[in-house]
Amino acid sequence: MIRLDKLLANEGYGTRKEVKKLIRDGFVEINGEVCKKDDRKVDEENDQITIDGELVTFHKNVYIMMNKPEQTLCSNESTKYPSVLEYISEYAHRDLFTVGRLDVDTVGLLLITDDGDFAHHIISPSHHLEKIYEVHLQEAITDEMIEGLENGLEFKEFTSMPAKVEAISSHLIHLTIMEGKFHQVKRMLHAVGNEVVALKRLQIGNLVLDPSLQEGDYRELTQEEIADLLEG
Ligand code: URA
Repeated sequence: MIRLDKLLANEGYGTRKEVKKLIRDGFVEINGEVCKKDDRKVDEENDQITIDGELVTFHKNVYIMMNKPEQTLCSNESTKYPSVLEYISEYAHRDLFTVGRLDVDTVGLLLITDDGDFAHHIISPSHHLEKIYEVHLQEAITDEMIEGLENGLEFKEFTSMPAKVEAISSHLIHLTIMEGKFHQVKRMLHAVGNEVVALKRLQIGNLVLDPSLQEGDYRELTQEEIADLLEG
């Protein structure tokens, strides 16, 4: 159950103030009866709500895939850099947040949602959802470095789970990790004597960054993609 005014604002019918006015002015009907109480609790699944005779259809949650551009922040506020949420202003009426964080200078696959359980499922290391990064390196990759990355590395607050390394060329690898600790990829490469010069996330679980999305572009996930992530 959810408050009527919150539900209508979530669905984009106006700000909380605007929808309260619509309700008080008698434009909103629930199951065929005018409702002038903005705090009335409604059941999104079963109640039929109309505004000025038009049926309200519900999107329970929003799930977005973005190709995060450089120089953007995974935060709800813009400070020195703009928040990625500024790129999706058409959803500004929803309480969106990023699923985990990518660094300011990292690009690529970023999920944005208003579903806390979904976000927790993706982030939680216990679900062992793999994240694949394209890592451009300062120094050529060596067998010892690969061994270090694949064996797991000790940091102050955690030991990385064994990673997978695919060497694409001397200065480019695909690195698969399970966790998403602060600066994890950069710290892992630093720990084995290398440095990251550019970083892009390519994949989370089976979800691959849509190649048609340019940096800054986004689209909603399909129902199949959402279900697949939740099964992973
Ligand atoms: N690891 C990093 O070091 N940075 C990111 O943005 C993501 C993973």
